[in-house]
Amino acid sequence: MSVDINIKITDRNGETHEIVAPTDMAMNLMEVVRSYELAEEGTIGICGGMAMCASCQCYVISDHQLPEMTDDEDAMLAEAFDVEDNSRLGCQIQMTPELEGLEVELAPES
Ligand code: FES
Repeated sequence: MSVDINIKITDRNGETHEIVAPTDMAMNLMEVVRSYELAEEGTIGICGGMAMCASCQCYVISDHQLPEMTDDEDAMLAEAFDVEDNSRLGCQIQMTPELEGLEVELAPES
């Protein structure tokens, strides 16, 4: 059964997009941003989703319980720029039905 979730993504120009993301295609948030072209090609997902570049950093605005960070994500965010308490790496956030209503903002390009 396919379940789509509604999420809000604010791009780097401050524009908020309400989009629908599938949860049955093993997509992560970085891939969703890329598929909707919400960030310029080549400015997001540079490491291909390996938690090694932080180009997919985003700020989680809604009150969702996200999966715990892996050590890799934690280490990458420790070195990244513009990191806030609610920073996460988009490539480490898988689209799941629990994330219905998620709201995030893309961190500035670094
Ligand atoms: S795409 Fe490189 S850390 Fe997420």
